[in-house]
Amino acid sequence: MLRSLSRIRIQQSKRQFTTSSRWRSALLPRTIRQILDAAPETASTTEITVNGWIKSVRRQKAVAFAQLSDGTDLNSRGLQIVFGKPEMAEGLDLGTSVSLVGAIVKSPSKGQSYEFAATSVKILGTCIPEEYPIQKKAHTTEYLREHANFRPRTDEIARMLRLRHAAKRAFEDYYEVNGFTSIQAPVITNNDCEGGGEVFRVLPDQNDPGDGESKESSHFFGNPAYLTVSSQLHLEAFASAFSRVYTLQPAFRAERSHTNRHLSEFWMLEAEMAFVNDLSVIMDVVEASIKHVIRDTAFQETLASDSQRAQLDSMASVPWKRITYTEAVEALRQGLGVDAFEWGQNISVEQERWLADNVGGGQPLFVTNYPTNQKPFYMRVNTDESDTTGSTVACFDLLVPRVGELVGGSLREERVDYLEAALNKHGLPADQYEWYTELRRFGTTPHGGFGLGFERFISWVGGWENVRECIPAPRWKGRCVL
Ligand code: 4AD
Repeated sequence: MLRSLSRIRIQQSKRQFTTSSRWRSALLPRTIRQILDAAPETASTTEITVNGWIKSVRRQKAVAFAQLSDGTDLNSRGLQIVFGKPEMAEGLDLGTSVSLVGAIVKSPSKGQSYEFAATSVKILGTCIPEEYPIQKKAHTTEYLREHANFRPRTDEIARMLRLRHAAKRAFEDYYEVNGFTSIQAPVITNNDCEGGGEVFRVLPDQNDPGDGESKESSHFFGNPAYLTVSSQLHLEAFASAFSRVYTLQPAFRAERSHTNRHLSEFWMLEAEMAFVNDLSVIMDVVEASIKHVIRDTAFQETLASDSQRAQLDSMASVPWKRITYTEAVEALRQGLGVDAFEWGQNISVEQERWLADNVGGGQPLFVTNYPTNQKPFYMRVNTDESDTTGSTVACFDLLVPRVGELVGGSLREERVDYLEAALNKHGLPADQYEWYTELRRFGTTPHGGFGLGFERFISWVGGWENVRECIPAPRWKGRCVL
């Protein structure tokens, strides 16, 4: 095919190629996605190079075919390669990395509109079939977790990574449009935001020589330091200057639970808003931002099926119910017949799922105003007509079907005397939180915010059972490789 093209035509279209706006970043080799996007203009006329990994090879008498993937096409199917002679496919196996020269041509077969007619093959890296951990057959999720370095080459994990990418962009888009500034909070902190004691301590390696003085464990920073469990406290400082801020960054928790919704390192989308004294405004932001992502076209393209799209569309098209903790307790007593459920008791994960399914009608459900005793020190105590006793705080959890709690948020205690009393009640050292308390002494505002577990979000919208399949490299107690 290519042999019949004149040299002049190739030269001409090469020029067009470099001047076309589509190829502004043309110093990089073109990806399969870029090649397929440009195929209607470039088919049969241009000699191009395509790089990737072989996904499968079929050898016939007079011809050979291969599927080539470079991870950039949405459905992971890749590009069909046609080799005019079967010998050209010699040495190509699942996983071999190659660089091929040839032309994109209209495909005569049904599976695809365009295919690549290869004229030369360069093997970049061989891949010994018997030893390659990723085989053509289906692997269990547990097996793939053991091979996390190769896992992104499977269709399922590649789809998850694309979905994460699209969801991140769509969330960022929502916050950008709504006047939020993105802030990167520190990862090493001096406090345990949630007060749950599930922090990782940061210490120098035991071989660190120190500065000659005591090698007592806090010598590096002069005070104990931890990996952040949440960026919230810092975001409050930034919201005190920028009004609306958000971040999507890692949080770390020394969680010992081996559940399908806990990781030791996970990503949290957190937002903080000043000049807000109404909890429902914060819930509105949560609801609108998630609906924005669910409706985003690029995000929808990464979903596995039309039924998944339809299910999410239906969630985006109705308002999500909001009930108080007290109403949730009543619903659990009546619906589950759990008479023994005392006001003040924690709602279990199973009960959260039951509430989302039954009270929320299969849609996400906000539960508000939890007992003060269950929640961290920073939540604003309800002292208005809804509760004059201070027994509840102005907070919410967003419960979603199958996953349970996806988002936690609240108004923050902006009154310095209440905050100091709360620190005291929780037994937290006032000096460690001095910088935080100070924010209330100098230009305090009513404010609030929330944190959304990004892997739980991916698990919920993408249909994965376990958050370990929803992050590039999962860490949990007993596991931190790669
Ligand atoms: O409810 P949490 O603990 O809230 C906070 O940390 C607040 N300071 C956030 C804020 O208001 N800015 O955590 C928020 C969310 C949870 O709802 C859950 O989705 C997720 O983070 N999460 C986890 N995800 C994976 N693994 C874990 N170990 C998680 N712990 C919490």
